[in-house]
This record gives sequence, C-alpha cells and structure tokens, in this order.
Amino acid sequence: MKYTFRSPGRINLIGEHTDYNGGYVLPAAIDKYTYITFEESDHFEVYSKYFDQRVRFSFDEKKEKVEWVNYVKGAVLYSLKGLRREVKPWKIEISGDLPMGAGLSSSASLIVGIVYALSRLGGVYRKREKIIKIAQRVESEFVGVKCGIMDQYAVTLGKKGNFMLIDTERKWIIQYVRALNFPKITVIDSGVKHKLALSEYNKRRNECERAEEIIGTTFKRMDIQMLEEKKNKLGETLYKRARHVVEENNRVWDAVFAIGGKDWAKLGHLLYESHESLKSLYEVSTDETDFIVERLGKIKSVYGARMIGGGFGGSVLVISKEYLDDDLKELSKEYKRKFGIDMKFYHIKLASGVRRI
Ligand code: GLA
Repeated sequence: MKYTFRSPGRINLIGEHTDYNGGYVLPAAIDKYTYITFEESDHFEVYSKYFDQRVRFSFDEKKEKVEWVNYVKGAVLYSLKGLRREVKPWKIEISGDLPMGAGLSSSASLIVGIVYALSRLGGVYRKREKIIKIAQRVESEFVGVKCGIMDQYAVTLGKKGNFMLIDTERKWIIQYVRALNFPKITVIDSGVKHKLALSEYNKRRNECERAEEIIGTTFKRMDIQMLEEKKNKLGETLYKRARHVVEENNRVWDAVFAIGGKDWAKLGHLLYESHESLKSLYEVSTDETDFIVERLGKIKSVYGARMIGGGFGGSVLVISKEYLDDDLKELSKEYKRKFGIDMKFYHIKLASGVRRI
C-alpha cells in the first residue's frame, strides 16, 4: 500500500530577515510542490527523483554522507524517536515541481511533508503547530541551518488564495490576508546560489542580536529615533542591519493595508523599497538579482519586485498587472548575455498547506 502527501513551497511577499528577529512576515504557500510517497518496508530507504539517487539509511543520529538524505533522515528521526512503540520502517519516494535552491523553501517543504506524513501514518498524531516546531528543529539541529520559523509556518498552515500575517515573536498567525483581485505573481529564479549564503545568514543573525543588546530592546519595540540616538555605539554595520529590520517590520503592515485597499501601486512600491533595503542596508542581494529587479522596473505592467528568501542568489518575486512572459523571455536573453546564466520563471498561485492526496 502506498500513501502520498503533497507539501508546498512558499513565497514571502514582504518581511525579509525579520522572522529570526521576532518581527512580522507575510508569506504564503504556493502551487509548486514536493510529493512524498510512503510504502511499508523492512528498512528505511529514500529515492529522490531530482537527484535520481536511492539511499538506504539507518534509524540513528549519525549523519549520512549524501547531504540531501539528512533532511529526510532528520525528519524521520525527530518524528519517531522516543515513541514508546516499535519504529516501522518506510520506503520513501520524493518528486515534485518545486525548484530547489531557488529560495522557495524546498527544504522546509520536504521536512514538513515527512513530519506531517509520519504523524498521520500511525505515528503519534500531532497538531500542525507541533509539526512546525519539529520541522524547524530538524533543520536547525540536525541539518545545521539556523533558519527562522516562517518557512515551516507557510508550508504547514498555508491557505489557498491567502497570505498569512505572522508575528514571529509570539509565534502565531495574526490573520490570513485574502489576496482578492491580487496582481499576477511570478517568481524568477536567478540561477545563482552562493556558497556563503549559510555563513552570511548566521552572521546577520549574530549582528542583529548584538544590535538589540546595544539598543536594549527588541526590534518590534524599536523606532528610527532610538537607532539614531545609539548610532555611534552601534557603528555603521549594526546600524544598517537594525535599520533594515525596523523599517521592514513597518513595511509588512503597510503591505497588509495596501492589499486590503487593493492599492497595487503602493504594494509594488513597498516591494521595491524592501529590495533596496536588502541590497544597501542588509547587504544580502547579488548583482544578478539587482539587475533583474532594475530591469523589471522598466516594464509598464509591473507594480513591484524584490529578491525573496535568505539572499545571496535565489529568486526575485514580481507582481504585475498581466503575466510578463514575452518581456521575461527578452530579459532572459539579456541576462544570459550579461551573466552567462539561465534565468527561469514560474507563474505562482497561493495554495494550501501540506496534506495527503
Ligand atoms: C530563509 C530562512 C527563513 C527567513 C529567510 C529570510 O529563507 O529559512 O527563516 O529567515 O531566509 O527572511
């Protein structure tokens, strides 16, 4: 007997690098998925269609040599260890149309998918909130990426046609924000993923912690005046990081109001502002994503665009009146000439969270 689960990727409309700073984010699950099939077996084994690789693994804390397998192993281990019953092994197959390494949270999608599935397949039944916590621990403790909480939330609790406004300090969804008559959403994969993404991510987290210590309060309670008063003590780098977080938190709320008022020009402007801030203050963008955003700004139908995710490559999110396929085909030729890299793009719809199919 085979059981299949579908776990989405995510976009984040606005609120970048705020989730590990107790700030606000506005993500959504998307209609690009990881499909995970489970079949009972006498040992643990996983096959990835993407890597076209089959690996047998054991139920223990040891890291596997093949890197991607650790996402699966960690999810299995953290789901089933400590249960007071015999662990049933599974043969797991992974496929899907969610691009990897494009800043669309393929890792959270995979981990959440497995944790959710195992909690529905005769393991211990767990509420979605608990699944989020386990999935985040897998990524931060087992895989070793100290991510925030946004990705797991979006993948687990996404609702079709909605963004979700999350307060990452209290760790709850403040509200689902319906995207009524929302502009077209396209994600453009820059095809770039820098190795230093992980170390720079951790460095930013560290810088933000130091900034909070110096100011003496959390980012949510900070305003620009407080930053100005402590500017000397902060020094240029910490001042810039903190300024991004404080202003980005405000932009999330402005975006919620813009969506409510269907003010797409305003929303687009906020996306451009966010990008500029990620580029100049938080310093996590790349020449490639900057180039794409700058060129998109010249297309009439575009309301706004920005890099999404952790940065140092990954994708650009663009909202526009009409789909931009012809313009993007032109742009990808120019992009290829300039950077020698293939640029891919995807139409995106807001989808529901993980489920069995
Ligand atoms: C990565 C992390 C998220 C979040 C973003 C930046 O995608 O996984 O938790 O921190 O970067 O906003």
